[in-house]
Amino acid sequence: KQRFTMDHQIIGIVNKLQDAFTNVGIPNPIDLPQITVIGSQSSGKSSVLENIVGRDFLPRGTGIVTRRPLILQLIHRPATAKKEDSEERSNENNPDEWGEFLHLPGEKFHDFDKIRDEIVNDTELKTGKNAGISPLPINLRIFSPNVLTLTLVDLPGMTRVPVGDQPRDIERQIRDMLYKFVSKPNAVILAVTAANTDLANSDGLKLAREVDPDGTRTIGVLSKVDLMDQGTDVVDILAGRVIPLRLGYVPVVNRGQRDIEQKRAISSALETERAFFENHNSYRSKAQYCGTPFLTRKLNMILMHHIKTCLPDIKSKISASLAKFQSELQSLGGTHGQDNGANVVLTVITDFCNEFRTVIDGNTHDL
Ligand code: GDP
Ligand code: NA
Ligand code: MG
Repeated sequence: KQRFTMDHQIIGIVNKLQDAFTNVGIPNPIDLPQITVIGSQSSGKSSVLENIVGRDFLPRGTGIVTRRPLILQLIHRPATAKKEDSEERSNENNPDEWGEFLHLPGEKFHDFDKIRDEIVNDTELKTGKNAGISPLPINLRIFSPNVLTLTLVDLPGMTRVPVGDQPRDIERQIRDMLYKFVSKPNAVILAVTAANTDLANSDGLKLAREVDPDGTRTIGVLSKVDLMDQGTDVVDILAGRVIPLRLGYVPVVNRGQRDIEQKRAISSALETERAFFENHNSYRSKAQYCGTPFLTRKLNMILMHHIKTCLPDIKSKISASLAKFQSELQSLGGTHGQDNGANVVLTVITDFCNEFRTVIDGNTHDL
């Protein structure tokens, strides 16, 4: 319910569509957007992504922790175990949920703490232990009944002064690396800015504006709202009075460094976040537009919108493929009753598109 990956309605829609297509021989009809995070070093990018996914598996912390791009493919796979219970998930083994790295083919990671260890391990293998960076991505796939088949990308943060083994032109190297990901037209950009820093200096927003000047695929995320000075808040930013963004801003509260050290669970962090916004004088009246659950909803709306714009094309592809199928049958001379069968399939798919349009319209009107 709360998490993006657990929106069963959208998961249902996309998976049904993908199944219907596989049946008529068209794989992957919808190229869903890639969700990318950009922003300054330690602004909270990895924390935001992890909260969205709802599992603990990304290295986080002060200083440069994310040093290579992590391309995370979530892959929906129906549950084989009896109960598809997704509410109470921990980092414990779950037979239906696991990760696999491209560089370790065939090795299944059911323990998400081990996934994090492997990300750190392979980062150090390719870039050393001394703050080096590399554009060579780590590819991780997570298979689960609770996710939507979708790609998310965690990226190193923008930084200016080289430390450790970093090259002198570290700023440009990281920028080039990020640019490659966010300039893709189907990338949704989460531009993360710590709320206790000046929005006008936001590296993430600056880059986002360059690649998405109309702001049709950029969401502003304000992290560390809990660390703002007493008496200050982000209300003016949310109202679009500072740097307006077409898709707006979402304030969030992630786990702090001490929470990381104490291995605080994600569920408890989300609870704290909810309580923070509901009890804060500045946000109480708009708490429903704050926090990870709202960010998740916004992302869902963007995906629904995307699917909606794909539907007409999908329908014509289906019709074309059925027409071809029918004429092949005819040329084989075995048509009795079969053309009727193909029409039934087309009707089913048309009904299905109509049904989804209703669901999708219901989910995109806020955009
Ligand atoms: P990244 O470098 O942008 O990926 O940032 P991380 O997610 O690794 O977080 C950097 C540091 O900031 C960690 O110590 C986090 O615990 C801390 N942090 C991130 N978001 C928040 C937040 O909303 N509130 C607080 N208090 N700390 C945060
Ligand atoms: Na960091
Ligand atoms: Mg990071």
